[in-house]
Amino acid sequence: MTNNNYVRIFDTTLRDGEQSPGATMTSAEKLEVARSLAMMGVDIIEAGFPAASPDDLEAVRRIAVEVGNPAVPESEARVPIIAGLARANKSDIDKAWEAVQSAKHPRIHTFLATSPIHMKHKLKMDPEEVVQRVSEMVAYAKTFCDDVEFSPEDAGRSDPEFLYVVLGEAIKSGATTLNIPDTVGYTTPEEFYTLIDGIIKHTPGMRDGITISVHCHDDLGMATANTLAGIRAGARQAEVTMNGIGERAGNTSLEEVVMALKTRHPVFDLETGIQTKQISRVSKLVSNYTGIVVQPNKAIVGANAFAHEAGIHQDGMLKHQTTYEIMRPEDVGVNQTKLVLGKHSGRHALRTRLAELGHSLDEVELDKAFARFKELADRKKVIVDADLEAVIADEFYRPRDVYLLNDMQVTCGTMGMPTATVRLRGPDGVIHTQASVGTGPVDAVYKAVNAIVNVPCELLEFNVHAITEGIDALGEVTVRIQGANGHTSMDAQSEAHYPRVYGGHGADTDIIVASAKAYINAVNKLIIAQTESHERVVNDFGVMLG
Ligand code: KIV
Ligand code: ZN
Repeated sequence: MTNNNYVRIFDTTLRDGEQSPGATMTSAEKLEVARSLAMMGVDIIEAGFPAASPDDLEAVRRIAVEVGNPAVPESEARVPIIAGLARANKSDIDKAWEAVQSAKHPRIHTFLATSPIHMKHKLKMDPEEVVQRVSEMVAYAKTFCDDVEFSPEDAGRSDPEFLYVVLGEAIKSGATTLNIPDTVGYTTPEEFYTLIDGIIKHTPGMRDGITISVHCHDDLGMATANTLAGIRAGARQAEVTMNGIGERAGNTSLEEVVMALKTRHPVFDLETGIQTKQISRVSKLVSNYTGIVVQPNKAIVGANAFAHEAGIHQDGMLKHQTTYEIMRPEDVGVNQTKLVLGKHSGRHALRTRLAELGHSLDEVELDKAFARFKELADRKKVIVDADLEAVIADEFYRPRDVYLLNDMQVTCGTMGMPTATVRLRGPDGVIHTQASVGTGPVDAVYKAVNAIVNVPCELLEFNVHAITEGIDALGEVTVRIQGANGHTSMDAQSEAHYPRVYGGHGADTDIIVASAKAYINAVNKLIIAQTESHERVVNDFGVMLG
């Protein structure tokens, strides 16, 4: 069994995270997230569940090619393993292999439930059949790929003695990583420690070269504690997601495990390969793309994680930072620099600051960023890092523009009907103009946009918040919409189909403009997803389906 002091970080934001209802990303966004995860130093990227749909397979394949086998790798150590999830059947394994095979380091991750509840009610299989299937399917995956991971789903509620047998068979058939999921977030840290300890001690065939992994869900708020308990017991891979997104209450969050291991290094004496200064940037990227807002008090990445409101805390902080801060905000990429740039700052200063924040832009991108920066500097006296991050997210981390906001005007107040006139540049380059009235200014804008794009959808969620303090602060809007066309995703475990939800993000000093941008952003994703799958049907079958 591998038992050194390095913990591999297996990120499943793009699989367990994205599969959770409401976190849909376009394939371009998935690719961007995968790139950022690789830059941050993640060891394994679980890029998706290829059997879910041809779109999902294609998204994993692109990540395997572009992130898992880049033409110019920065260094060999930086090329992450690309994993694809497969249920324990030949068809899923074939698709997972098809998707990941172009990666330099491909991995097939297959799973089958082992708890009495799942075997009886979900699989309708006897324990003996489960053992047999695991042995056959791990061996089948091994015929394609050297690196095979096996997970006994719902291990947290499985009989440990039965787990030893199943895992022993998986080792015999060639699995080199055994992932132990607490699928429903049921166990306590003590129980999970004992489970992992028992598996390491009693699984037949356990040896050096076999990695034990932990994968915890947060239903009782114990995912991070359970993951750390598993690591203390000897697990050397942690399966996590950015911001802890995932099924129901989510997965263990990457940032919590990584920062716990770093901040409490004397307790754990373990390392990860994560460049922690990238955490804040990747967290924002995932939040913007999924439309899932990070709660303000979320550990490490919440807006208040490093804010000190109470007078007594502020007083302590002024005397010495360590009085109330156990980590430095800079260590996770939250820069405390207040006054960064102003109206008179030049292009070079902007480039330098953006590079310090982890954004390396080419000349054309820098021109665009500089134009946005100047425009903002005319309206806002000081521009802090949070403003720059919002502008970058708004300008670059958004899907290909199908419709683009050209300009808009809104009248509202107590004296009349809120009315919006919106002009969008369409995919054909033509400007479309529409005026609409609504219950409020945002409603009026959204009605005008709907009338132009003519893609039926429902607004599920609308969030607005100010990025910094002050009356001239940038407003950031996040929306989530659902298409009315029956587009669905398939969940790997429950096999349920649920409607895809698209998130959108926009930032501007005018919150109605930010609201328009966020909505257009989400609608563009919906249109792109529809077009992508339509094109795929055309490519796969050579016919146009209406
Ligand atoms: O939670 C779970 O059991 C999973 C498995 C597929 C690893 O996500
Ligand atoms: Zn899971």
